[in-house]
Amino acid sequence: MAVKLNRSYLEGFVENGEYERLKAPVRLAHEALLSKTARGSEYTGWLSLPEDYDKEEFEMIKAAAKRIRDTSDVLVVIGIGGSYLGARAVIELLGSQYFNDLSPLKVYYSGNSISPDSLKKLLKLCEGKRVAVNVVSKSGTTLEPALAFRVFKSYMEECYGKEEAAKRIFVTTDKARGALKTLSDSEGYESFVIPDDIGGRYSVLTAVGLLPIAAAGFDIDALMAGARNAMKSFAAPDMDSNACYAYAASRFILAEKGKLVELCVCFEPAFYMFGEWYKQLFGESEGKEHKGIFPSSLVFSTDLHSMGQYVQEGKRILFETVVRFLESSSDITVESDKDNFDGLNYIADKSMSYINRQASDGVLLAHTEGGVPNLLIEVDRIDEYNVGELIYFFEKACAVSGALIGINPFDQPGVEGYKTNMFALLDKPGFEAEGERLRAKLL
Ligand code: PA5
Repeated sequence: MAVKLNRSYLEGFVENGEYERLKAPVRLAHEALLSKTARGSEYTGWLSLPEDYDKEEFEMIKAAAKRIRDTSDVLVVIGIGGSYLGARAVIELLGSQYFNDLSPLKVYYSGNSISPDSLKKLLKLCEGKRVAVNVVSKSGTTLEPALAFRVFKSYMEECYGKEEAAKRIFVTTDKARGALKTLSDSEGYESFVIPDDIGGRYSVLTAVGLLPIAAAGFDIDALMAGARNAMKSFAAPDMDSNACYAYAASRFILAEKGKLVELCVCFEPAFYMFGEWYKQLFGESEGKEHKGIFPSSLVFSTDLHSMGQYVQEGKRILFETVVRFLESSSDITVESDKDNFDGLNYIADKSMSYINRQASDGVLLAHTEGGVPNLLIEVDRIDEYNVGELIYFFEKACAVSGALIGINPFDQPGVEGYKTNMFALLDKPGFEAEGERLRAKLL
């Protein structure tokens, strides 16, 4: 079954008739996406990727993943933004937040900050272990991963010597351009391609995500099959028969009513990093020209004891998109206790998945009654197939959401602001004058 959207809990917030005027814009957005006339359409390769992916490279990814598993205890994935979030989101959703404690191959992430402490600690973690590195950067020039890779390259060469290090370093980058591609060719690293027409945050189903996900032991064939199914399930041109578009239209209407913060909520702790991926997807895609919904994510019931108060009674600028997995892969039944020392005998013989479901229904009703509209995204279970579907659902919904608000959902011009200032303050050649100007402003 495909990912399902349940809009019942918008009752009282959005009337059915309100969708009417969005039918034409949604259809136009759909046609523009398909005909590659939409803004940023040079980056819409992800649309047909689940069918059109490079099958030969896919097999090479599986072979490299096996080699990593056979020869390493640790895989360090170096990348930032779309160059690591998708991989981490899928690995931790499928493998839980205890993935590294349970898996023979530990997957660590680096190059997603500039913290020396973090990098030092990771190097310490690697001591005495057999390490492989996958450096991921489409541009090949992003400072954070470039810095981390500089450190890891010499670490690997010191540990293994240049020749063996080269066998343990895997590069995922542009097929022809960039410093990383040049280095990779000259050092003889095995490299994988980020297609020209797929941007970072839409790249989880390319080698960017697939190599770490396969190395972590997950079934990337099933992941792609799920995405392929979503491609078909969410192909219809109008929102009445396309849940993806109904979701985009609902977000649009809610934002117009002042619901400018979307909380992507899940009752599974394993969803935490998927929430981070969703935040990047929507935040970087929509947040431009002073438009866009602010995406946030929460794990319940954990965050009900931190952010729950705000959600229930704070400023009414929120709506929730609840991702609900209908089946658990395992369960625990509450045992009866003869002394009922904790007063829990009223739920004796009930399963924890049942209790979690009642909690989630209770929260849904409390929050909607408190003025927070809820959209429900129902997914059968957490497995590769369903996660592949969910990824594609959000990607397509995001593209159409962006079109509805009239921005280009595939660029990120705003990210340059911090980069320019950082380079100027670091005296990068070409930025000297700007550096002087900025330093004069620092207090
Ligand atoms: O979605 C995006 O395009 C960005 O988040 C990039 O993935 C991120 O900036 C990293 O870029 P690169 O892969 O070029 O190092």
